[in-house]
Amino acid sequence: MKNFVFHNPTEILFGIDMIAELGARIPSDTPVLLLYGGGSIKKNGVYDQVVDALGARSWSEFGGIEANPDYDTSLRAVEQLKAQKAGFILAVGGGSVLDAAKFIAVAACGTHDDPWRIVTDGGSSITEALPIGAVLTLPATGSESNGNSVISRRSTKEKRAFGSQLVFPRFSVLDPTTTFTLPRKQVRNGVVDTFSHVIEQYMTGYTGAPLQDRFSESIIQTLVEVGRKTLDDPEDYDARAAFMWSATLALNKLIGCGVPQDWSTHMIGHELTALYGLDHAETLAIVMPGVWRFKLESKNVKLAQYATRVWGASTAEDAIEKTEQFFASLEMPTTFGPYGIDAAEAAEAVKQRFEARGVSCGENDDINGAAAAEILSHRA
Ligand code: NZQ
Ligand code: ZN
Repeated sequence: MKNFVFHNPTEILFGIDMIAELGARIPSDTPVLLLYGGGSIKKNGVYDQVVDALGARSWSEFGGIEANPDYDTSLRAVEQLKAQKAGFILAVGGGSVLDAAKFIAVAACGTHDDPWRIVTDGGSSITEALPIGAVLTLPATGSESNGNSVISRRSTKEKRAFGSQLVFPRFSVLDPTTTFTLPRKQVRNGVVDTFSHVIEQYMTGYTGAPLQDRFSESIIQTLVEVGRKTLDDPEDYDARAAFMWSATLALNKLIGCGVPQDWSTHMIGHELTALYGLDHAETLAIVMPGVWRFKLESKNVKLAQYATRVWGASTAEDAIEKTEQFFASLEMPTTFGPYGIDAAEAAEAVKQRFEARGVSCGENDDINGAAAAEILSHRA
């Protein structure tokens, strides 16, 4: 196991009616910016609960954060935040709203002449951020308890990630009943995204970290147990709660302590969203089995361990087959075909983007443009 520092500063408030607790966690004399997306929170009662919890303090709202939050929209929120002298951001929604809040929290401090550098530096130039709180309504990204954010710049078709310890939410409310109104597709996406977050930190080579392996396998086993159930019965509280907690634990730093990490599926996937507009999880389901095939030799032992412990099977081939079957059972395609995208063309486009930026990723830093193209060309 490698050396590590584990520090997760987010307080989690989990369960029914926990939104009411948030007022006590925001300084009463600090004006709040309530940030949200396209309006789902106004239809399902979450907005009303949040407004009640904010009480008599001063607050304003900014709605319209898109799925795959946009850079220009986020900058408009920064302008409003400054005009209203807000000093705390309350993000209410899915990962996109939370990610936008993290970018806005940094941009509002005015430390970057060119705010796009906040993102392109990967977070390394962040020295200040406003405090953030969150009410999560979509289990998937883990953004509610991590320092990561992914921002899209539609004007240049870019999608880039950054991370900083300074943008962890101070608190996050996770009330599974707020997710009962999620469209089926978003639940499917959330299960697959969570699954891939575990895989990116698990499916590598030798880790010397048996506890982290078991943490990862237990999250995946939980997803296998409740994934289809929570898709079919959105109001089964226990299944939805297990899914929601799994999504948080999959990417709150815990399972990644001291182990090698891959993340090539995500890096390639982000390019596919930027180029073709596929949902984040849709890209992951296409790319992940391709990465496994491409790295069959170096990931062989871990694939077999996963096949045995999660699926009661034995080989690396079984691992790929069982995973593709699991995604299919969630109605998630694992190839480009159903989207009408030409695999060879996508392979070439991602290759060019990786090469232009000099990207190489994966646990051995060897998934470059040519490797990404090789992976994608087999996903027709
Ligand atoms: O915008 P509204 O109207 O709220 O509707 C949203 C949106 O259309 C809807 N929704 C959310 N909660 C709902 C609901 N509809 C009904 N009832 C509810 N309770 O769901 C749609 C999708 O929301 P979004 O926030 O975009 O989804 P998700 O949470 O999957 O976030 C995706 C974004 O997160 C990034 C992705 O790349 C993508 O940009 N990621 C962030 C990560 C992180 N911060 O650590 C890691 C991930 O790997 C990922 O890259
Ligand atoms: Zn993801």
